[in-house]
Amino acid sequence: VSGLRLHGDALAAPEMLDFAVNIWPAERPAALQAALLAALGDPRYPHDTTAREAVGARHARGPHEVLPLNGACEGFWLLAHALRPRVAACVHPSFTEPEAALRACGAEVLHVARDPHDWSFDPAAVPARAELVVLGNPNNPTGGLDPPEAVLALLQPGRIVVVDESFMDFVPEPAPSLAAESREGLVVVRSLTKLWALAGVRAGYLLGPAELVAALGAQRQPWSVNALALAALVACSHDRATPQRVRSEVAVARAQLLSGLQVLPGVRAWPGAANFLLLEVADGEGVAGRLRAAGIAVRPAGSFPGLGDDHLRIAVRRPDENRRLIEALVQAL
Ligand SMILES: Cc1ncc(COP(=O)(O)O)c(C=O)c1O
Repeated sequence: VSGLRLHGDALAAPEMLDFAVNIWPAERPAALQAALLAALGDPRYPHDTTAREAVGARHARGPHEVLPLNGACEGFWLLAHALRPRVAACVHPSFTEPEAALRACGAEVLHVARDPHDWSFDPAAVPARAELVVLGNPNNPTGGLDPPEAVLALLQPGRIVVVDESFMDFVPEPAPSLAAESREGLVVVRSLTKLWALAGVRAGYLLGPAELVAALGAQRQPWSVNALALAALVACSHDRATPQRVRSEVAVARAQLLSGLQVLPGVRAWPGAANFLLLEVADGEGVAGRLRAAGIAVRPAGSFPGLGDDHLRIAVRRPDENRRLIEALVQAL
């Protein structure tokens, strides 16, 4: 797998210390685990009403403004297939599945480049002819946040703006989320994968105007989100304590990791708001290879449009693991 379809999971063998995939290394809360097991034991077809209500209540939205998904990724593919925009714009460097999905549906995909100094973007740089615009907030792999005004400035009649907030629950509060914002043309996509260690369950959702949610739902098979994912959506929407705890643990670990990186000669590290950081080093390929030989997987970021082989993305893990990474990085450099 390469190019737009490359993801961190292809880079970390099971025995490696995994800084390539941005999943927070913690055990699932007992109530979530119990909900998953109960769903597994249920012989009936899944129904998504309770999940829509729970997610809606969490974000002050109605249940008809919520579409449960098989992970955030399904949202990008469903939007591309159901809406079939002729011209779309992706704000890069960013997670590449939205672009892969749009291209697979025949869209012309325009690249809007973030400013490499601080990775901000200029809403005015998005061509008016883009019928659909996708951006991440916080953005993977650059880690920064966009102010809500910049995202809302992208809205224009006839356009759909898709904000990928898959990492928003990691962001220190107050987070600039648009999840509670009911606006024509605005879609917010969320994932349970990263914070709840649920990559394999495939659980996420999108929030948008009720007519759009209905139109997207009409384009897929019945029961398309399985009972485990729906149970996870309910359990995680009710659990406000876990994201709060994780946010503060991540903030401490991230600050330590960043200050450890910033004193390394030859390493440029951008500050980030989520559970990963973007670095630039000399000879990125060599550094990633030597870390790999030392049993540590990082994510070479050259497959993100706008970045090169010297950019590496690393997850924020527990402080002792982050220290191991820094020590290995000192050797690898
Ligand atoms: C920014 C971003 N959005 C979405 C996803 C996909 O999330 P999910 O597992 O919910 O499909 C990823 C996974 O790497 C990601 O990095």
